[in-house]
Amino acid sequence: MKFKIFTLLAALAFCGSAAAWLEGGGERDEALDLEPDLENGLDVYEVCSGCHLPEGWGKKDGTFPQLAGQHRSVLIKQLADIREGNRDNPTMYPFALPRAIGEAQSLADVVAYTEKLPMNPDNGKGEWPAGTPEFDMGKKLYEDNCVECHGKDGEGSAEKFYPKIHGQHYAYMLRQFEWVRDGKRRNANPDMVEQIKSFSNKDMQAVINYVSRIPVPKEDLAPSADWTNPDFD
Ligand code: HEC
Ligand code: HEC
Repeated sequence: MKFKIFTLLAALAFCGSAAAWLEGGGERDEALDLEPDLENGLDVYEVCSGCHLPEGWGKKDGTFPQLAGQHRSVLIKQLADIREGNRDNPTMYPFALPRAIGEAQSLADVVAYTEKLPMNPDNGKGEWPAGTPEFDMGKKLYEDNCVECHGKDGEGSAEKFYPKIHGQHYAYMLRQFEWVRDGKRRNANPDMVEQIKSFSNKDMQAVINYVSRIPVPKEDLAPSADWTNPDFD
C-alpha cells in the first residue's frame, strides 16, 4: 500500500500539472482512435446546428463559437471535458451528454463532420485594424506569449490538443481568454494560465484583436460569407 502511494505521488510529481490537464481520457482516447462515419456525423450535427448554425460558423457576437475547421482532437477534448464537468457550459451541457450525442463513436463522427466544414470568411473581429498602435501591441504580445502553442499563424496543433484560433470570433475568444486567465475555465492548459496571468484587460483585448485578424488560409475558407451548407438544403 505504502509503495503504491509512493509511486502515485512520484508519478504525479514527475508528470506535473500538464498531465492532469490531459487526464480524464478514457472516452477521449477511445473517440480519437475510432474511424469516423461522416454520415452519422451529419445526423448528430443536426441538433448542434440549432446553436452553432448549419455552417458551423457560430455567431459574430461570440455567443456560439465557430466549430468549422477546428481540429478534431481539440473538439473531442472539449466535449469530453464538458461531459465530465471540467468545463462549464450550462447552455450546451444537455446537448453534450451521451443521450444527445451518443457514445464515443458518435462523438468521433460529429467532430469529423465539423472539422471538414469550410470556415467563415467573415469572423467577428476586434476594433483595431492593422496600422493602429493597439494592433501592433497585440502582435508583439502574440509573438512573445502565444506562438509556442497556437503557432505563428494561429493554426494550433492537432497532435497536442492546442486549438486553432485564427478565424474564431473576437467576442468568444475574449470571454474564453478571460476565463482561462481568471481560472474559470477549469480544463485550461496550466502553462497557458501561467503565461497569461499578468495580462491586463487592455493586453488581453489587444492580443485577441490581433488573433481575430490573422488571415485564415484561403483553402480552409468558404468561397463567400453567403455560403450555405448544402447538407442542410
Ligand atoms: C443550446 C445551444 C447549443 C447547442 C445545441 C450546442 N452547443 Fe456547443 N456550445 C454552445 C455554447 C454557448 C458554447 C460556448 C460556451 C462557452 O462560452 O464556454 C459552445 C461550445 C462548444 C464547443 C467548444 C468549442 C471550443 O472552441 O472550445 C464545442 C466543441 C461544441 N460546442 C460542440 C457542440 C456539438 C458537437 C453540439 C451538438 C451535439 C453542440 N455543441 C450543441 C451552445 C450550444
Ligand atoms: C502552453 C501552451 C499555450 C500557450 C502559451 C497559450 N495557449 Fe491558448 N490554449 C492552449 C490550450 C491547450 C487551450 C485549450 C484549453 C483547454 O484544453 O481547454 C487554449 C485555449 C485558448 C483559447 C480558447 C480557444 C477556444 O476555442 O475555446 C484562446 C482564445 C487562446 N488559447 C488564446 C491564447 C493567446 C492569445 C495566448 C497568448 C497570449 C495563448 N492562448 C497562450 C494552450 C496555450
